[in-house]
Amino acid sequence: MNVLVTGGAGFIGSHTVNLLLERGHRVRILDNLLSPVHRERTWPAYVPEGVERILGSVDDPQAWKAGLVGMDSVLHLAAYQDYLPTFSRFFHTNAAGTALLYELLVADDSLAKQIKKIVVATSQAVYGEGRYHCTNESCPQHGVQFPGQRSLAQLEAHDWEPKCTACDTALVPQTTLETDPPRPHNQYGISKLAQELVCLNLGERYGFPTTAMRYSITQGPHQSFTNPYSGALRIFIQRLLHGRQPVVYEDGGQLRDYVAVWDVARANVLALEDSRTDFQAFNVGGGKALTVLEYAQLVGRALNLPVQPALPGRFRLGDTRHILSDISKLRALGWEPRHSLEEAAQAYAAWAQQQPGFRDYSDEGMATMAQQGVVRG
Ligand SMILES: NC(=O)c1ccc[n+]([C@@H]2O[C@H](COP(=O)([O-])OP(=O)(O)OC[C@H]3O[C@@H](n4cnc5c(N)ncnc54)[C@H](O)[C@@H]3O)[C@@H](O)[C@H]2O)c1
Repeated sequence: MNVLVTGGAGFIGSHTVNLLLERGHRVRILDNLLSPVHRERTWPAYVPEGVERILGSVDDPQAWKAGLVGMDSVLHLAAYQDYLPTFSRFFHTNAAGTALLYELLVADDSLAKQIKKIVVATSQAVYGEGRYHCTNESCPQHGVQFPGQRSLAQLEAHDWEPKCTACDTALVPQTTLETDPPRPHNQYGISKLAQELVCLNLGERYGFPTTAMRYSITQGPHQSFTNPYSGALRIFIQRLLHGRQPVVYEDGGQLRDYVAVWDVARANVLALEDSRTDFQAFNVGGGKALTVLEYAQLVGRALNLPVQPALPGRFRLGDTRHILSDISKLRALGWEPRHSLEEAAQAYAAWAQQQPGFRDYSDEGMATMAQQGVVRG
């Protein structure tokens, strides 16, 4: 296949590009080398030599057109991601940028005939808090619930767990299925749901086989260490390798199903190559629930470093308490998470230490988020 990979200079994109090349596909990257993901705004050394690169943005029709020439499929990974209150920017890049792809295809018959498959990176964030259970048998709402966001007052009281709206019992997290109702509550999750609605609906209406991939928190090498936000692993490792302890939000009891980046790349390539995925959304997670504190210990063990996270009671406004994806739908197509989180941690540490300018950026990231009212407490 001839595959246009948007965001191919980024973390997940670069591993997906490597796998596509290994499998004999031709690849072209469209990426605007967004700062601060790319601090120097230069093509990272991990982008394989010889891969065609276009410096351009997915909000620019000319960049899309240049990217699509001669291609027969698109892996659309470019996105704006953060916790910052730059609300409109999330929709501009993630939702409108995706709508522009379909707009251009619908406007040009020969382009439309050429494109056989589109895979779009959405996110587990589309669920918000996802599926929970009220375990109080005398409660009129006993059973499955999909809670909304926690209020600022609740977070300020350090009362972290989502509660049943009927009996106020702390709800118990469950794994969330693709068929569960999406209830995103932060700007990123809402923009990713909008993106998903755009690509699946327009794909179906105009006959462009499209697949949306809802990744869980992805870990491994090539994740930028200069984002204010982007991943527990890179923040833990930056601090641990500089003799400092991780600072964990809330009480560290948040459950996540971290997934290794090589498994996400395999899921992307499967979606691209397998028409059984057409017009559907798939969860792509690690299949195991870990609290943030358990994950910090796992990283410490993988690096052979002692870990004693600090818990100052800070929290991020808009954060999800627990989220775990059910991955049986993708498993039924033969995909399985194969790589361990220890392997991802070791590979990240090894890669980061080789990077010029690698240092601990976590205080700057935290300060930016605090200044903009995202990190509180
Ligand atoms: N990393 C995760 O844990 C995770 C989880 C769920 C979903 N996702 C999704 O996966 C995709 C890839 O994420 P990632 O972690 O690799 O991020 P990343 O920031 O490492 O890579 C994104 C790439 O997109 C590029 N980009 C940003 N805006 C662009 C624009 N307007 N035009 C062209 N290129 C642009 C950036 O320069 C970067 O190279 C995103 O769509 C993201 O929303 C990531």
